[in-house]
Amino acid sequence: MHKNLSEILITKEQIDKRVKELAAEISLDYQGKDIVFIGVLKGCFLFLSDLVKNVRLNTNIDFMMISSYEGKQSTGIVRILLDLKNSIDGRDVIVVEDIVDTGLTINYLLKALKTRKPKSIEVCSLLNKPTCRKVNVNIKYRGFDIPDKFVVGYGLDYNEYYRNLPYVGVLKDEVI
Ligand code: IMP
Repeated sequence: MHKNLSEILITKEQIDKRVKELAAEISLDYQGKDIVFIGVLKGCFLFLSDLVKNVRLNTNIDFMMISSYEGKQSTGIVRILLDLKNSIDGRDVIVVEDIVDTGLTINYLLKALKTRKPKSIEVCSLLNKPTCRKVNVNIKYRGFDIPDKFVVGYGLDYNEYYRNLPYVGVLKDEVI
């Protein structure tokens, strides 16, 4: 375990198993369809890559990068820093997130994407912090519900560090 962590919350083995389950669920639900995965950078990068390797469907992959945080507070005002390359008009879309916390970011993003007239749009999030929710969000595919702790690893960062850890862990208080 990394020395700046107080505990490993979700092991690599648990992640591998759950990601495969989610990929199987999506493959079944979208049988015979073409889908567009939209990865929300940067946090999604490991989750998305492991997920799509296990999805048995024709897939397009596109990315967005957004900023929603002023310091450590989610504002809910999303600035699009990098937009999709292709249109999602008439497409079945799955937005892939690392974590839904207050829900403000994904809520705003979904509203923006719905104006582009996708045929359907769902959310797949590796992590969910249900106790922090400020707006109602329907997360159709969710990896793990976690307590209200600041976590890093498997794509999630603190000041851009720890994204490469193969597990999800809790940062020690003195590091934050
Ligand atoms: P929300 O708008 O509060 O749902 O914020 C979602 C975004 O906040 C995520 O995409 C992450 O970038 C970031 N975030 C929220 N909680 C954590 C955490 O525990 N660790 C790392 N990033 C987090």
